[in-house]
Amino acid sequence: MPDIKTAFGYASPSNQILIAPEKLRARVAELGQQIEQDYAGKDLVMVCILKGGVMFLTDLMRAIHIPHAIDFMAVSSYGVGARESTGVVRIIMDLERDVQGKHVLLVEDIIDSGRTLSYICEVLNARGPATLKICTLLNKYERREVEVPLDYVGFDIQNVFVFGYGLDIDEVYRNLPFIGVFGD
Ligand code: IMP
Ligand code: MG
Repeated sequence: MPDIKTAFGYASPSNQILIAPEKLRARVAELGQQIEQDYAGKDLVMVCILKGGVMFLTDLMRAIHIPHAIDFMAVSSYGVGARESTGVVRIIMDLERDVQGKHVLLVEDIIDSGRTLSYICEVLNARGPATLKICTLLNKYERREVEVPLDYVGFDIQNVFVFGYGLDIDEVYRNLPFIGVFGD
């Protein structure tokens, strides 16, 4: 799909499209349907982990036709320019609302080492949600260092650095409508 690359001013020939827009759309629709069934009649709060999860959340919530709230949380685990999680996670921005008694669904872009999510789960579980589940678009399963139970997974992917559809390379390319693989 060279037309998409050109359209977004993204040009390195060694970069490849891993998951095309149509595939993302189809999978998000499936996940939405599943979540809709699982949470019918429940007080659902979808918690987006900024910034990477933002495009996934906005598409996913449009695929869920039951009442639900959304909230946002921002953590930092990578420094700019870094490609590896430092293992030190900091809350940069906390949720606006109390999640006690709510059915919380965490919406993440990608699980890599699992450190970020494991920390967030620890923090949120202490607030007494009715349930706490995880929905991730991408799962880099080979990289897992800390086990986190994944309830909804868009795609399992190999150990490659990806970008687009919310995911960044040094804060850019989040706007791309596909998941690309970073080549040197
Ligand atoms: P973890 O703590 O190692 O699981 O790291 C998870 C976070 O690292 C994700 O929320 C992403 O923001 C970021 N991350 C991990 N892998 C990639 C990647 O391939 N591209 C862009 N960001 C990534
Ligand atoms: Mg990130």
